[in-house]
Amino acid sequence: MENNQKIKDYLDSEGVICRKFDEILDIARAAGGDREKLRDSLGEGYDGCRSEQEFYNKMLEFAGNAPIYDLLKGRSRDFLEWMLGKTVEKGIRGKVLDIGCGNGLEICLFGELGGQEVIGIDINKKLLTEAEKRIKRRGLKNTKAIIGDRDNLKFPKNYFDFVTSLNSIITDGEFYGRDSDIAYNYAIGDRTKQIAMVLKKGGTAVVSLPVSEGYGEVYQDKLSFSFKLAGFSEILEKTQYSKYLEDKIFVDVFVAARK
Ligand SMILES: C[S@@+](CC[C@H](N)C(=O)[O-])C[C@H]1O[C@@H](n2cnc3c(N)ncnc32)[C@H](O)[C@@H]1O
Repeated sequence: MENNQKIKDYLDSEGVICRKFDEILDIARAAGGDREKLRDSLGEGYDGCRSEQEFYNKMLEFAGNAPIYDLLKGRSRDFLEWMLGKTVEKGIRGKVLDIGCGNGLEICLFGELGGQEVIGIDINKKLLTEAEKRIKRRGLKNTKAIIGDRDNLKFPKNYFDFVTSLNSIITDGEFYGRDSDIAYNYAIGDRTKQIAMVLKKGGTAVVSLPVSEGYGEVYQDKLSFSFKLAGFSEILEKTQYSKYLEDKIFVDVFVAARK
């Protein structure tokens, strides 16, 4: 079976099904969650790392028996298929690291699609517990989810064949104020260097990043320059996804590079 079909089947089997926001709120209510409370929580969003953790913890509270986190991903199912398709197309193989693995949707797919040893890291312990449950449920022996920080990757140098960071290299609102651009660029540069450090020569890195409307090309370049400065030899692809998601336009940048 071709990979794109495998990705679709995988997302279906994990309940990540294309749904509108209101439908998701209704499912949450039917599962015993508070529809309005969930709407409010999502509306609050998050600023900075610490409250990002609180945000995800809240999302997991709402999960109950229904995995709200995954249901919410169904809002942008087309995007997920696109992003995962592009990532897998770059040749998931050997030792794979996923930085900011969340509750493990992507690492389990990578584990099933050819990763020999797949490691997901995240800073949020509750998300990791959910990731572990998914790994166990899918019976994956080659995949694990462990605590780790994108700013301080504790792995041997030149260890991985493939490194991904899917919408996790920067936290939305992590930098704000007058010089936020400088801090943002520094963080992207530094985190790309961390990736270069743990990736083997000839290995592939994939980074995706949500950006504001009209900024897709700017951020494709930012990421590409960061890869080059971090010592990558070739940009394999830089592109973007852009689509109306109910009430606003959603843009995500995707860059793949070879070390
Ligand atoms: C927008 S989510 C993306 C999750 C997943 N990769 C996906 O595509 O759905 C960002 C993730 O980055 C994680 N994260 C935030 N700061 C981090 C850090 N310093 N190190 C590792 N992960 C971090 C969050 O806990 C969260 O799971």
